[in-house]
Amino acid sequence: MFSTLPRLAAVALLGVDVANAVYSVATVADIKQTSADIAFDMMQYYKGNLSGQTPGILPGPPPAGDYYWWEAGAMWGALIDYWRFTGDESYNKVVTQALLWQVGPGQDYMPPNVTASLGNDDQGFWGMSAMTAAENNFPDPPPDQPQWLGLAQGVFNTQANPDRHDDTCNGGLRWQIPPINNGYDYKNSIANGCFFNLGARLARYTGNQTYADWAEKTWDWMRGVGLMDDDYNIHDGAHVETNCTDINGAQFSYNFGVFVLGAAHMYNYTDGSPVWKDRLDKLVNATLVRFFPDGIAYEPACEDAMSCTTDMLSFKGYVHRWLATTTQIAPHTAPVILPVLKTSAEAAVLTCTGEQNGRTCGFSWKKKKYDGSHGVGQQMNALGAVSSLLVDQPGKAPVTNSTGGTSKGNPNAGSNSDSFMHSKPMTTADKAGAGIVTFLLSASALATFAWMGFGK
Ligand SMILES: *[C@@H]1O[C@H](CO)[C@@H](O)[C@H](O)[C@H]1NC(C)=O
Ligand SMILES: *[C@@H]1O[C@H](CO)[C@@H](O)[C@H](O)[C@H]1NC(C)=O
Ligand SMILES: *[C@@H]1O[C@H](CO)[C@@H](O)[C@H](O)[C@H]1NC(C)=O
Ligand SMILES: *[C@@H]1O[C@H](CO)[C@@H](O)[C@H](O)[C@H]1NC(C)=O
Ligand SMILES: *[C@@H]1O[C@H](CO)[C@@H](O)[C@H](O)[C@H]1NC(C)=O
Ligand SMILES: *[C@@H]1O[C@H](CO)[C@@H](O)[C@H](O)[C@H]1NC(C)=O
Ligand SMILES: *[C@@H]1O[C@H](CO)[C@@H](O)[C@H](O)[C@H]1NC(C)=O
Repeated sequence: MFSTLPRLAAVALLGVDVANAVYSVATVADIKQTSADIAFDMMQYYKGNLSGQTPGILPGPPPAGDYYWWEAGAMWGALIDYWRFTGDESYNKVVTQALLWQVGPGQDYMPPNVTASLGNDDQGFWGMSAMTAAENNFPDPPPDQPQWLGLAQGVFNTQANPDRHDDTCNGGLRWQIPPINNGYDYKNSIANGCFFNLGARLARYTGNQTYADWAEKTWDWMRGVGLMDDDYNIHDGAHVETNCTDINGAQFSYNFGVFVLGAAHMYNYTDGSPVWKDRLDKLVNATLVRFFPDGIAYEPACEDAMSCTTDMLSFKGYVHRWLATTTQIAPHTAPVILPVLKTSAEAAVLTCTGEQNGRTCGFSWKKKKYDGSHGVGQQMNALGAVSSLLVDQPGKAPVTNSTGGTSKGNPNAGSNSDSFMHSKPMTTADKAGAGIVTFLLSASALATFAWMGFGK
């Protein structure tokens, strides 16, 4: 794995000290070995498959541990892509157990344990990971268990239900799902972005126009309400009390990534329509300009001051993977995207020289050296960046149900879901959850990220 000589020379020209570099991404073999080590270190944080622990979740949610429920859902998606790109099956059993344990009674990723802070985005991340499993023929669960495609449809169907699309702000999804939750009055880009992404991917996978109609409608809503503006800025969200006119202008890379991948699927589903090509190309450019200065992933809203929340520390990896997959289903974007992903991944691995084992990955890749931070997000970012360098290897493109996809669908999945619209007495757990969110809300009211830093 230490075939670093050509890279050492190249990087030395830029004046970066790589004497301590641990990882190389110079060859396919290097990329596989580097990904394997980074994945191994990431999984040291996961305890859910040890006896007495809950499968599927990372230590948390705060204050019990650092990680909210959604991030584990995202992590399983990163490991499915890791398997898809490298062929390493080491984690497949753990991933399958995790994705099946958390499905909840409606088989739609709304397990009762997490409803006290359940957002459409949280549910969406688990749904997108199930969709990734379907699109890549990740080994199907036993027949008596929920299936990947059906789970993605379950999430989509609950989010397409009229009870989640009221008329405030002219439509769109709210952030939180249960009306009693803090944040129920906020309509945001990531909740709608996950729904858009899932709709576009289900449209391409199944060929069913209903999903595409919803994706189209969601895009139009984002544009209409101004959360995505004429210059392809994507703002964080706005409140229903103001008819969504109090737009929070914070911009985060994952909002761009989630819309890019969805737009790429709409482009593909419409056989390359000029409308979706234009939207996709402009959004890709906006993403690269804002979040990859000097060709290295960067989170402008929080990176310089290192004021990123645990959630934000994981966005770079999703953006890398989603841009990589975009180049497969909208191949004309590859020459624009792939060179950037490469320079970014090269910078990422230069940060992996930290802490306990000498190869822990940091967050601030533009520093090209370890920055002292560590966690699941940092490992998952580097894993996504490195493993998806293999995206241009043959045979790795996402399938559909007419090009070899085997996952069984269930168009009516999610119809037995809890709408939360009935009045139900609050349980002690609900109250505790709501209390924690309220506390965090007031504590962070003056912070820049009042709406981003909690409850995810
Ligand atoms: C838990 O998962 C890890 C992979 O992260 C694996 O090495 C380990 O054997 C698993 N433990 C059990 C008890 O299944
Ligand atoms: C819900 O929490 C209980 C108690 O921690 C745990 O035993 C159970 O497995 C959890 N259910 C899910 C779906 O995570
Ligand atoms: C793909 O899924 C759609 C919608 O579920 C269905 O109408 C179509 O028959 C499926 N195609 C194949 C080849 O299974
Ligand atoms: C709310 O905003 C939408 C545009 O997002 C607009 O069409 C609608 O008229 C506004 N409603 C009110 C009551 O101002
Ligand atoms: C996107 O940027 C590339 C160069 O990075 C440029 O060639 C292309 O014209 C741009 N496309 C749009 C739609 O702005
Ligand atoms: C759609 O995706 C496939 C890969 O699955 C690709 O071969 C094809 O070129 C894409 N279509 C367009 C219009 O880019
Ligand atoms: C298409 O999807 C919609 C929404 O889930 C569903 O109601 C409809 O039955 C599906 N149509 C087919 C042909 O599968």
